[in-house]
Amino acid sequence: MTKVIILGANGQIARLATTQLIEQQTDLRLFLRRASRLQGNNTGHAEIIDGDAAQVADLVKAIKGVDVVYANLAGANIEQQARSVVTAMNQVGVKRLIWISTLGIYDEVPGKFGKWNHQMLDDGYLPTYAAAAKVIEDSNLDYTIIRPAWLDNQDEVDYELTQKGEPFKGTEVSRKSVATYLVHLINNPSEQVRHSVGINKPNTDGDKPAWY
Ligand SMILES: NC(=O)c1ccc[n+]([C@@H]2O[C@H](COP(=O)([O-])OP(=O)(O)OC[C@H]3O[C@@H](n4cnc5c(N)ncnc54)[C@H](OP(=O)(O)O)[C@@H]3O)[C@@H](O)[C@H]2O)c1
Repeated sequence: MTKVIILGANGQIARLATTQLIEQQTDLRLFLRRASRLQGNNTGHAEIIDGDAAQVADLVKAIKGVDVVYANLAGANIEQQARSVVTAMNQVGVKRLIWISTLGIYDEVPGKFGKWNHQMLDDGYLPTYAAAAKVIEDSNLDYTIIRPAWLDNQDEVDYELTQKGEPFKGTEVSRKSVATYLVHLINNPSEQVRHSVGINKPNTDGDKPAWY
């Protein structure tokens, strides 16, 4: 059975994916800072490991024995976290990585929405996420980078995908859609290897997300 680790397991998308993975009885390991925060959550039989994704030593211990690493990380040091994840995976010999990034890292968002996205995200966020994605793409890992549109918490699953090199579609997508797609990839790990995939809700083109 495939063993999966979620890095940043208290993240919002990570928690939705955890629920689905527990339901389908995936062999699961959850890695997060201050792991006691998960007490009271339904984590089934998942192993829970305390650690910092910027620390190679924490990651090496946690990644041993897994087949798939799903990184749901964030923060100003995201590039450092990407370097640590790549180093640890190489050290342990694990190849398959699913890495959540963001729309806009390749300047792939067209039109007025693309300009608005730059205005909202250029102040530190987009450059660091782009640098982190480059670290992943420059590695020899079997990665999939996922670039979600602006996230909301709608209780719906409705998404379409774009590839790197294509204009990004739409403006928004639900976290539940992203989690559902992640679980699909975890169940089908040979899909989208060394690809960077945009994910959005169909028919949400506009100057900014409708709810913003
Ligand atoms: N908001 C949007 O519209 C949007 C759109 C596209 C992409 N994104 C990106 O998509 C990603 C996932 O979204 P989300 O809503 O699930 O994000 P989230 O709830 O902010 O989850 C990110 C997780 O990363 C963890 N983390 C940060 N640094 C860490 C470290 N050094 N070690 C271990 N864990 C660490 C955080 O843990 P702690 O709880 O310990 O801080 C947090 O739980 C984020 O990177 C987000 O920026 C967001």
